[in-house]
Amino acid sequence: MNKIFYIANWKMNKTAIESKSFIETFLSSYQKSEDKDVVLCPSVIALSKLGNFEGISFGAQNVNEQKSGAYTGEISVDMLKELNIKYCIVGHSERRSLYKETDNAINDKIKLLTEANITPILCIGETWEQKQDAIGEEIVSNQLRSCLDGLEACEIVIAYEPIWAIGTGLSASLEDVSCMNTVIKKQMNKLGYMDDQFYILYGGSVNINNVNALKKAKYINGFLIGGASLDADNFLELIKK
Ligand code: PGA
Repeated sequence: MNKIFYIANWKMNKTAIESKSFIETFLSSYQKSEDKDVVLCPSVIALSKLGNFEGISFGAQNVNEQKSGAYTGEISVDMLKELNIKYCIVGHSERRSLYKETDNAINDKIKLLTEANITPILCIGETWEQKQDAIGEEIVSNQLRSCLDGLEACEIVIAYEPIWAIGTGLSASLEDVSCMNTVIKKQMNKLGYMDDQFYILYGGSVNINNVNALKKAKYINGFLIGGASLDADNFLELIKK
């Protein structure tokens, strides 16, 4: 699997109208190619209004771990399924820290998503303190083990996003990413995933200036991009690089 993913995580930005206008600008210059996969993750409201566009896929940013029921304000996997999306982000560090999402809940989400044929984009990563204490690799391996515990291996995207690199302008080094990707690959194989069942992405302050260097990381299959994906021209330039 050697295509490169460019996954835009828009977080709580862009209304449905703004999302549509981004897509129009983006598609007016984007050259689709076999070796690139562009995935946009706007709000669920935007997803419900956008429909299909040739050359790009869509993903959600979260799903509830319960199938249905009295969970006010939450979005179920069946609701996502009707949107015909291909992907769903789970376990983003903002959700883990702000909404106390646990590995257990993430495990349930992944199970529901795979049953619904939606490919999970599982985010993992260590804090700055954990990196300083040289336990980052252990943290990431443990996150993979508990988030995937007891699940049957099937297609999944793993996004290595060091928490200290998200939205800070301070991306991980090529060496950091290569080392962690090697740990991730080993752990995934240990958990029963074949090499062609998972993709490894890097996320955390990816921009037009560092994307080319990061592309040289070992086992890298693409990027999860926040801030640098919000402007269509900037995102296009990042992908063109
Ligand atoms: P960033 O965000 O590119 O703005 O650092 C990445 C993410 O949170 O997925």
